[in-house]
Amino acid sequence: MFEFLLGYDNEAIALIVKDHETVKELFDKYEKAESRREKIRLAATTVQELNIHAIIEEEIFYPAIRAHIDHPKMNEADEEHHVARILCAELSVMDGSEDHYDAKYKVLSENIRHHIKEEEHEILPKAKGLDLDFTALASKMQARKAQLKRDGLPTSLEDRMVRATRNNDTPARESHRTAPAKAVADKTKTTAVSKAPVKSASRSMMEAKGKTAGKVVPKKAKPGTSKKTAKPAAKSASKPKLKIVSHRAASAAKSVRKSAASTKKTRNKR
Ligand SMILES: [Fe+2]
Repeated sequence: MFEFLLGYDNEAIALIVKDHETVKELFDKYEKAESRREKIRLAATTVQELNIHAIIEEEIFYPAIRAHIDHPKMNEADEEHHVARILCAELSVMDGSEDHYDAKYKVLSENIRHHIKEEEHEILPKAKGLDLDFTALASKMQARKAQLKRDGLPTSLEDRMVRATRNNDTPARESHRTAPAKAVADKTKTTAVSKAPVKSASRSMMEAKGKTAGKVVPKKAKPGTSKKTAKPAAKSASKPKLKIVSHRAASAAKSVRKSAASTKKTRNKR
């Protein structure tokens, strides 16, 4: 499809497109691979190829063309590299047995396929028309690739980020740590709270946040639960309230008796 870019009249662009074809082949092989060992091997190769490709673009090719290409488009390419680097860094610290391993590789391949499409449709055609020494650029890119393969890759910012926050599978699993059923119930309460006055809403929102963070909230007795239908647990929960009522009743009765006695005493004196 992009044979016009693969011509040796532009060695730098041909090198980039050849890299794209290499990683796309790896994505296809991964999808077809049946053994876990093969998938892990393909993922490791993909990560290596993508990181090297990103380095030669970011260090050599992008700086050479950036001033002549749409600024937002180049920024978008940078961000797509950044996201791909994070996924590569995460795959690098995984052993392939994790629940999210295949999903992470799939998202990486989708991200890169999108990046390649935009690069080949919008960036490289414009770059090809620039008055640059593409032969010299290609030589620098080839030399840097050879050096990276020989000496190993530098630790990227994304590598450090992932290693600093690594858990057993993936940060995406964090979303599993709140109980879905409870979250739905809390959402209803939060919606009601949002209609309340500002002063009390802010406090209630803080409480709602506490709930989503996994705090245990004691169950309240359902409104309208009668003594007859209440289960043993509910009965024990309502006991203190009944005691208070009895105490008040006893106190009131005592007060009435005291008043009656006082009246009787007054009458006797007369
Ligand atoms: Fe790229």
